[in-house]
Amino acid sequence: MPGKLSAWPARVDVLQSLSGLLLVLFVWAHMFFESSILLGEDAMYRVTKMFEGEPLFGKPYPLLVSAVGIAVLTLVVVHAVLALRKFPGSSRQYGQLRQHMGALRHPDTTLWYVQCVTGFLLFFLVSVHLYTVITQPGNIGPYASADRIWSERFWIVYALLLVTVHLHAAIGVYRLAMKWYPPTGANPRAHRRRRKRAMWCILAFFLTLGCASLLTYMYLGYQHADRAGERYQPGTTVLATEED
Ligand code: HEM
Repeated sequence: MPGKLSAWPARVDVLQSLSGLLLVLFVWAHMFFESSILLGEDAMYRVTKMFEGEPLFGKPYPLLVSAVGIAVLTLVVVHAVLALRKFPGSSRQYGQLRQHMGALRHPDTTLWYVQCVTGFLLFFLVSVHLYTVITQPGNIGPYASADRIWSERFWIVYALLLVTVHLHAAIGVYRLAMKWYPPTGANPRAHRRRRKRAMWCILAFFLTLGCASLLTYMYLGYQHADRAGERYQPGTTVLATEED
């Protein structure tokens, strides 16, 4: 019918926001599980076995981890495909965007640009990580992860992934809040300032947690380098074995 507006652009927008929110919630929860290494090798070992279903089935099923990896990868692909329609599509559009940003000097427009750049980088960085998780689900644990991070030099990918994903997630949540729950009332500017402060605090928190656990994996991997490939046995630590 002429003149009738399609509801699809709105539906796709909701789907993009929803897939983004689910991914952010996953990544934030993942950071808490993965940083269990800060509580010691045993704590991380138990978390790993929990995700392999051992408490439920009596023995570990690493394929459960692959299944989670495939589900997350599917969500990443859906989110990225939906987001692609908002990327500058040609060098002309890209030039216009840069010109627009320079003229406006509006901090939220700059945040949107950071969102585009980090989103682009994430597609590569997340793929490397998820490929490892999906194809080697049994190779996750205090020593297996520490060996990968130190002896296989995965710390380089993880350091880049850490900064990129948390910038993308924190800015994403701020933008979601501004889009679906815009500040109203007497002083919307003050609201915006408070939300932005919350965004920086969340970012600082996850970067600190992520750096602390990455450094711990690196240290553990360094200590374990001469026995790389050996798996963790509950109740033992690298340091205890060295003292023996
Ligand atoms: C959007 C998807 C994902 C992102 C952005 C992501 C991000 C990250 C980051 C940044 C690190 C390094 C953390 C640090 O600095 O301490 C990491 C490590 C880790 N991630 Fe993920 N992750 C994702 C999906 C998954 C999935 C689906 C699993 C498992 C089912 C997983 C399991 C792990 C494990 C076990 C580590 C520790 C290092 C290792 O064993 O390789 N991640 N992840």
